Amino acid sequence: MIDLKHIIKAYRTGKVEFQALKGIDLKVEKGEYIAIVGPSGSGKSTLMNIIGCLDIPSRGEYLLDQQPVNTFSSNQLADIRNKKIGFVFQAFNLLPYATAYENVEMPLLFAGMKGRKRKNRILEVLSQVGLADKIDNKPTEMSGGEMQRVAIARALANEPEIILADEPTGNLDSKSGTEIVNIFDDLWKAGKTVIMITHDLSLAQKTERIVKLKDGLIDNNGNLA
Ligand SMILES: Nc1ncnc2c1ncn2[C@@H]1O[C@H](COP(=O)(O)OP(=O)(O)OP(=O)(O)O)[C@@H](O)[C@H]1O
Ligand SMILES: [Mg+2]
Repeated sequence: MIDLKHIIKAYRTGKVEFQALKGIDLKVEKGEYIAIVGPSGSGKSTLMNIIGCLDIPSRGEYLLDQQPVNTFSSNQLADIRNKKIGFVFQAFNLLPYATAYENVEMPLLFAGMKGRKRKNRILEVLSQVGLADKIDNKPTEMSGGEMQRVAIARALANEPEIILADEPTGNLDSKSGTEIVNIFDDLWKAGKTVIMITHDLSLAQKTERIVKLKDGLIDNNGNLA
């Protein structure tokens, strides 16, 4: 489903080119559960943003469901993100003045879902993450763990096949963090492909495969650490 072929991501600062990713080969099959680990600056977020079509590689080829993503326009990439990928960030990235309901509504509006169908879907995903009683709360009226559950509900709204999470528990205490990872476990058991960046080895060990990054390269050839 995800096939990265010698992906390089280079940034140019003045005359100096810096490669955040130096040639990543990674295949992920549908339904896999993967953790990406590695030191700060090793390229984890850069890689996740490329997998999630938030960014494009400088060189190399990315095939997503056999489609050459690196040749796509920004509109096509936005469309893929909306339909196929649910992204969860460390800092939640919710709209601060919007309620849980309205935050989850955003991707459904982009997808053109209307009326009662949209309303039902919003209530369904908020219930799925245990927030049926918080639909009218704004982020300032929720705990960190609750905010992250809204972000997960938003990521799930359009039924993406792939869930990507960049340090989803990084701003949470261990109890809320465990609750969040339990939701990812359930999503994986329900057939989703889940890829999570984490610094927490005990969380990484719950996945099927650990990909270790070091200085922009995969350190363990994708084998179990
Ligand atoms: N827009 C940019 N311009 C220049 N360099 C960048 C840019 N974005 C990232 N980098 C560099 O690329 C490298 C990898 O960054 P990345 O954010 O992927 O690291 P990370 O593994 O996610 O680290 P962390 O664990 O701290 O989140 C870093 O050295 C960073 O400074
Ligand atoms: Mg990062």
